[in-house]
Amino acid sequence: MYKIRFAGDPVLRRETRPIEQFDDSLNKMIQNMIVTMHREDGIGLAAPQVGYSLKLCVVDISSIDEKEHPRAFINPEIVDSWGEDTVEEGCLSIPDVRDDVTRPEGIRLVYHDERGNRLEESYDGWMARVLQHEIDHLNGILFVDYLPSFKIQALQQKGLLPQKF
Ligand code: NI
Repeated sequence: MYKIRFAGDPVLRRETRPIEQFDDSLNKMIQNMIVTMHREDGIGLAAPQVGYSLKLCVVDISSIDEKEHPRAFINPEIVDSWGEDTVEEGCLSIPDVRDDVTRPEGIRLVYHDERGNRLEESYDGWMARVLQHEIDHLNGILFVDYLPSFKIQALQQKGLLPQKF
């Protein structure tokens, strides 16, 4: 199991590398990330949040949609998006902070699965929301980056965000 990295940790802002080897160690990492996400009651987790600068995230929204199951997205890239939706978000790396974020409602995604197959799929609703949040992590972006500066200052005054993050 992995330890969660919190806002202020430079790994959350670092550039991530694409994954090229689809081997046992990748599968072990995916399993460990899923266990860590479940332990923390999260619905998504990106590799930088556990200290790895890699283009990998896991998502499990089965607590919201029972047809869903834990999934890994490797080298994910959003190639199209549409609509607009405002939803309250949180992040395991920023405990006790939640706020509304406006994002596209649907996305078209290209990614690799665990075996290295290149897939292209469309998502909307919660999957699209969580995927966009996690893919932001792979680009060094946190959801609080979308908040106005007066809200950031208030969070910093309350000690919920460090001065540098
Ligand atoms: Ni997050």
